[in-house]
Amino acid sequence: MYKYKLAYSSWDKREVKAIHDVIKKDHYTIAENVKNFEEKFAKKLGRKYAIMTNSGSSANLLGVASLFYKKKNSLKRGDEVIVPGLSWSTTYSPLQQYGLKLKLIDIDLNSLNMDVKKFEKAVSKKTKLVCVVSILGNPANFKVIRSICKKKGIPIFEDNCESLGAETDGIRAGTLGIFSTHSFFFSHHISTIEGGMIVTDDYELFCIMRSLRAHGWTRDLPKNNPITNIKKGFYEEYKFILPGYNVRSTEINARIGLVQLTKLDKMLRAREKNLKLFRDYFLNDDRFIIQKPYGYNSSFCFPMIIRKDSKLSKIKIYKALKKAKIQFRLITGGSFLKHQVKKYFNYSVYENLKNTDYIHNNGFFVGNTGHDLSKELSILKKTLVKI
Ligand SMILES: Cc1ncc(COP(=O)(O)O)c(C=O)c1O
Repeated sequence: MYKYKLAYSSWDKREVKAIHDVIKKDHYTIAENVKNFEEKFAKKLGRKYAIMTNSGSSANLLGVASLFYKKKNSLKRGDEVIVPGLSWSTTYSPLQQYGLKLKLIDIDLNSLNMDVKKFEKAVSKKTKLVCVVSILGNPANFKVIRSICKKKGIPIFEDNCESLGAETDGIRAGTLGIFSTHSFFFSHHISTIEGGMIVTDDYELFCIMRSLRAHGWTRDLPKNNPITNIKKGFYEEYKFILPGYNVRSTEINARIGLVQLTKLDKMLRAREKNLKLFRDYFLNDDRFIIQKPYGYNSSFCFPMIIRKDSKLSKIKIYKALKKAKIQFRLITGGSFLKHQVKKYFNYSVYENLKNTDYIHNNGFFVGNTGHDLSKELSILKKTLVKI
C-alpha cells in the first residue's frame, strides 16, 4: 500500500448515481449524455465544437487524421510536423500512422515544454503542422508559438491531455489548436474511467471527425455539412465516406463526465494549493530543478529533476521513495528517442535533445490530485531531506 500515490479517485456518490442513471435508462451507446457533455465541455473552453472519444489517444488519432481529408490545404504523407522531444507515446503515434515526418525539438529544462527559441529557428517552409504539448499542467509559450504559426500559416495540433485548466498570456490551454485534445483517464484533471475530447472551431474538421469517430459513415453528420450530401433512406444508414474507426464513448463515461465537469474548478483550486505547498518545500532545495510555472499551471503532477551539480544519486532517491512508499514515474514518458518505437518513425532532430535526454535520465514525478495532499507532501519532504 502506498502512502503517497500517483493518482487518487475524484469520484463520490454523484458519479455512482450517474452510472445508475444510465443503467436505469437502459441505453448505453452514444446518445444524449455524450451530446450534452460535448456541448458543456465546448462551452467551458469557449470553443464551438467538441467530439467525445473513448480516450485522449483516440482524440489525437482523429484530430491528425482529419487534417488529411480537408478540402483545402490538406496534409500529405511525407509532410513535416514539428514536435517536442518530450511527450506521451500517443502524441506521436498518429503522426507515424499518417506518414508524417517528425522534426523533434528539445525542451526547456525549467518549463519542460518545447524550447521556443529553438522552435523559432527550426520552423521552415517544409513545416506543415506544429504539435504543441503543455507538460503536466504547465502551459507552453502559447503567445510566441501562436504568433509564429499564424505568420507562416501553419496549423497547430494541441495535445492538451495533461493541462486542462491551464492558461498563459490570456490564452487558455485547449484553445490554441486548430484542434485541441483532452484525456479523461483516471489520473487526469477530470476522470470518466477512460475518455477523451477534441475541441475545434472549424466546422469542416468537426464534421470529418464525427464521421471518422464512427466507422467513417455519414449517420452522425448534420444535414448541412461541407463534406457530403445527406439523403434520407435505406442507403444513407450505411453510407461510408471516409476510412474511419470506432472510437466512440459510451453514455456511462459521458454521464460521469457531466458530473466531473461541475467539480473541475474546485479540483483545480485544490491542485493549485498542493502545488503551492510543493513549491514552498522544494523551490529553494538546490538539489532539484522543479517546474517553473509559465502562467497558470493546472498542475497534473510534480516533476523533479536532479541537478547536475548536486551530489545526489538517482538510484538512492528511487530507493528512498520506494522505501517511504511514495509512487513515482518517468516524466510524461520521457524522451521519445529513448524508446524502441522510434525505429518505426521517419524523424529528424533539430540540433539535439540534450535537455530532453537529461530529464529522461535524471527526472521523475510524484502525484498531484484534486484534494488536499499536505500529509503526503510532508512525507515526500521528510524523505528527500533525509538523503
Ligand atoms: C500528452 C498526452 N497525450 C495523450 C495521452 C493519452 O491519453 P489517454 O490515456 O486518455 O489515451 C496522454 C496520457 O496521459 C498524455 O499525457
